[in-house]
Amino acid sequence: MRPIKVGMIKRLSTGVRRLDELLAGGVPEGFLVALVGMPGTGKTVACLHFIWAGLRAGESCIYVTTEESRESIIRQAEQFKMDFHSALRDGRLIIIDALMREREDEWSLRNVTVEEMLDKVIAAKRVLGRSCRRLVIDSMSAFWLRAPVRAREQSYVVKRVLNRWGFTIYATSQYAITTGSAFGWGIEHVADGIIHFRRRIVNGVLRRYIIVEKMRQTPHDLRAWEIDIVDGQGLTLRRPLARRIEDEVLPPEVLERIRRVSSEDLL
Ligand SMILES: Nc1ncnc2c1ncn2[C@@H]1O[C@H](COP(=O)(O)OP(=O)(O)OP(=O)(O)O)[C@@H](O)[C@H]1O
Ligand SMILES: [Mg+2]
Repeated sequence: MRPIKVGMIKRLSTGVRRLDELLAGGVPEGFLVALVGMPGTGKTVACLHFIWAGLRAGESCIYVTTEESRESIIRQAEQFKMDFHSALRDGRLIIIDALMREREDEWSLRNVTVEEMLDKVIAAKRVLGRSCRRLVIDSMSAFWLRAPVRAREQSYVVKRVLNRWGFTIYATSQYAITTGSAFGWGIEHVADGIIHFRRRIVNGVLRRYIIVEKMRQTPHDLRAWEIDIVDGQGLTLRRPLARRIEDEVLPPEVLERIRRVSSEDLL
């Protein structure tokens, strides 16, 4: 049996200062963290921060993009003053593009399968070497579009295979706009951590929130935090969500009185 290493947990910065604080310093090295939620809630922006934090620390990184082109990712990063272009040119960043599927391109996927993605990621890791510790897969949902029932099994394969290569992984997963939840059994149980991205309309304005729902081996913050996505800056945490009357459990007799008064109002 291999000796089990126990000791201080090394944590990697998320690239978002307050989020690091919520996670007792950052994401534990070697973890697979699922970023889950509805469209437009900030998952991709959070992935860009995670990669940029690595690049700034002198690491090299891999980004798998399935729903946006490589160019779209570079442009989006540029809007937040993250220079992905130079990192690509200097050979410190490889963006594996599963959307455009350009035949000539070394880092494009021909078929959107987990097997081909894993092969490419390992090939990229061989090119980038030891300094490559961060991997983003944005999103995993693309791999099980036709077979949602395979989501859990494929997430497990991804975790098991990539764990040996020393990656710390951000993997996004989309939640259905109809139900606001996952398409069946997904990545959530396999993941070491879950950061849930939410949205709500308050007084006619779109508000976005994140909540750390799980982070193994971490005394993490349990509150929902309102986030902002700001041009030139990216994702910032504003404040924890205020307690609302709906969050409180009222005594049954009080609830009954409220119910009676409201039904009298209707008469
Ligand atoms: N330059 C910018 N300045 C301010 N806000 C921006 C800027 N660029 C993007 N956004 C905001 O970020 C949102 C997109 O966030 P993001 O791409 O992270 O969503 P997502 O959770 O990855 O969604 P999906 O599941 O559809 O991929 C946009 O809808 C917009 O509100
Ligand atoms: Mg996205």
